[in-house]
Amino acid sequence: MTKTIKWGIAGLGNIARKFAEDLKRVAQAELVGVASTNRGRALAFQKEFNGQKAYGNYEDLYRDPKIQVIYIASLNQNHKDMTMAALEAGKGVLCEKPLGLNTEEIRAMIALAQKQNCFLMEALWSRFNPAIQKAKQWITAGQIGDPKFLYAEFSFYRLNIDSSHRLMDPKKGGGVLLDIGIYPLFLAYFILGKPKKIVAQSISANTGVDVQTSMILQYKNNQAVLYCGIANESDNNAKVGGTKGEILLHGFWHNAQKVELTQSGTTTQEDFPLEGNGYVPEIEEVNRCIASGKKESNLWSHQDAIELGKMVEQVFEKIK
Ligand SMILES: NC(=O)c1ccc[n+]([C@@H]2O[C@H](COP(=O)([O-])OP(=O)(O)OC[C@H]3O[C@@H](n4cnc5c(N)ncnc54)[C@H](OP(=O)(O)O)[C@@H]3O)[C@@H](O)[C@H]2O)c1
Repeated sequence: MTKTIKWGIAGLGNIARKFAEDLKRVAQAELVGVASTNRGRALAFQKEFNGQKAYGNYEDLYRDPKIQVIYIASLNQNHKDMTMAALEAGKGVLCEKPLGLNTEEIRAMIALAQKQNCFLMEALWSRFNPAIQKAKQWITAGQIGDPKFLYAEFSFYRLNIDSSHRLMDPKKGGGVLLDIGIYPLFLAYFILGKPKKIVAQSISANTGVDVQTSMILQYKNNQAVLYCGIANESDNNAKVGGTKGEILLHGFWHNAQKVELTQSGTTTQEDFPLEGNGYVPEIEEVNRCIASGKKESNLWSHQDAIELGKMVEQVFEKIK
């Protein structure tokens, strides 16, 4: 019989709410405790999502003996410290993306997870999206021949937000590259691997954070053109073109529900109806890892998180 995994959630904002909705959809997941800097928020969240305990501080959650894995859903600048504290308490951790603000943070978090012999994964949920996995399977099976060109964007209009919003505030790890640019970078890495070279240009807000970033990734025999921004609306499609065909992931591709394969003018489509908000496959992967005693996922490994972090750093080098 499959084991039930006992979860905690730390940092109870927008994404924690969507994640908790999906946690309820996973039969083998139990929400044991939730923690916020604001006890009232924790109590309301506990009630809404049938958690067993509400904590007005994170330390008590980390120390809760019933909890096996904690989902860190706080802002980017807190990911490292909160993850380290949970690992120190012996808990497994699923930490929101980006795992760290830079590779130094990411490496420190991974080193502690290894020392503590605890599970750690970056919450790179698109890696577990069934339509993206189908695209990868088609490419591996040679359905589009040699992949030569990848295009992915992630953008929407949000320039009207206040300068204190987490996206606009450099102290909150703001900027579009860290917030949404990691998705197109992930897709290029997942499909084409590590690039030889990256060029990039940005447009910044008055606060100094990037609000539009364009990237070209150069590989030995192929290229990727990527974009992230909060200055425009978009269909948010992604595509991979090869010597024999093309794959289209319908937008928002990072949570795709439909993927198309076109060969010699004929298009085949596969639909993957969304289950909840799209976090169920990621939660199930964490559950599988914890149940089987694994300390990292093979599907989004520690090394994958480091490689993505390195790509982000290379882009930052170009746009600073
Ligand atoms: N996977 C996804 O699809 C996805 C989507 C959006 C965002 N994210 C990621 O999820 C994380 C949280 O994003 P969000 O949109 O949920 O953020 P949010 O609602 O603005 O805030 C989340 C939590 O961050 C904590 N926090 C710490 N310092 C704060 C400060 N100075 N101001 C406001 N809140 C602060 C609060 O936790 P307390 O309740 O403890 O006070 C707050 O509830 C980010 O790392 C982001 O990159 C992921």
